[in-house]
Amino acid sequence: MSVILNICGARPNFMKIAPLMRAYHEHPTIRPLLIHTGQHYDTNMSTLFFDQLGIPKPDLNLEVGSASHAVQTAQIMERFEPIVKEHKPDWVVVVGDVNSTVACGLVAVKLGVRLAHVEAGLRSFDRAMPEEINRVVTDSISDLLFVSEPSGLENLKHEGVPDERVHFVGNVMIDTLRANRDKAEQSRVLDELKLAKGQYNVVTLHRPSNVDDPVMLGRIADVFDEIRKDLPIVFPMHPRTLANLGRLGVAERFQSMDGLRIVEPMGYLDFLKLMANAAVVLTDSGGIQEETTILGVSCLTMRENTERPVTITQGTNTLVGTDGAKIVSEYRRCRQSPPTTAQVPEKWDGRAAERIAAILADAS
Ligand code: UD1
Repeated sequence: MSVILNICGARPNFMKIAPLMRAYHEHPTIRPLLIHTGQHYDTNMSTLFFDQLGIPKPDLNLEVGSASHAVQTAQIMERFEPIVKEHKPDWVVVVGDVNSTVACGLVAVKLGVRLAHVEAGLRSFDRAMPEEINRVVTDSISDLLFVSEPSGLENLKHEGVPDERVHFVGNVMIDTLRANRDKAEQSRVLDELKLAKGQYNVVTLHRPSNVDDPVMLGRIADVFDEIRKDLPIVFPMHPRTLANLGRLGVAERFQSMDGLRIVEPMGYLDFLKLMANAAVVLTDSGGIQEETTILGVSCLTMRENTERPVTITQGTNTLVGTDGAKIVSEYRRCRQSPPTTAQVPEKWDGRAAERIAAILADAS
């Protein structure tokens, strides 16, 4: 019997861990345990995802909550260490690039436990992004690296990671999207918000580089002010963005803009339905670049770089940075020529988690 501790902590982790927990069922030699660090804790940021995606109740919740990066990372490490000592797992599996990923990875390897990283090898080459540090550190200490797109293979090769540790398995986030598409179709979110298919845009923004600076937020408001003249914008707002609008004194500008609807963060199924039927999605998220690629919906990524280049070379994603004029002109281009066919990146076929579980079962 091989004991695997699986870590999730923040919203984008939940759709990655869900298919893995399911895939372990095919392997009776694996005993999976699920640990929630509590990095995200609100109903909208956490509980809803467990309910909708059928993720088993976590075996343990470390309940760390929000804090500075150092404090949050340190608290996760402190609370995870005794759990590793108690359960003596064969593997610790971490997903994505959040603080919970790197914190639990460090604890595992320092106790001599093998570490597997799901979504390894992605690089934005921007060390000002907290997630980039988390990715580089986690990959450098992992024994098994599960890669979602070809750029990941190249990056890990350049960094000298031995080939035998690296497996190109596909994208677990897309496993979840494929498994839930039909269910999401049943969502009433468009009716509730009185939106018609293809007649609205969706925005999500939460990265420090966009929402921690009042000048940047002012520029973003100018962009929305242009775009809303074409189609209304729905903006399910991340709690850190909401807090910043108030703190930086720009809430009024966003809240009083006609055609801009700020709503609470949504559950997975409602948001999937909202994205799938949008005209254009504007975002700084990582996962949304991938999801829109599979949905065949135009995505404008309001960042200077992406760690997921396959969404540009094969998908529907365009990097637009933060230059207002460029964002608006790219928006107009998307409206004039929406994507007709979306290419599916290699192995984004809904079976990534099955591949990972099989490799872990063999390696145990
Ligand atoms: C984290 C991840 C980021 C990911 C994002 C998705 C890191 C470094 N960042 O950023 O990669 O894209 O999650 O959401 O791990 N808050 C709540 N309720 C919650 C959670 C957070 O109100 O359930 C608020 C708190 O005010 C908190 C702030 O959001 O201070 C930020 O949360 P935190 O987990 O520190 O980082 P995120 O910005 O969510």
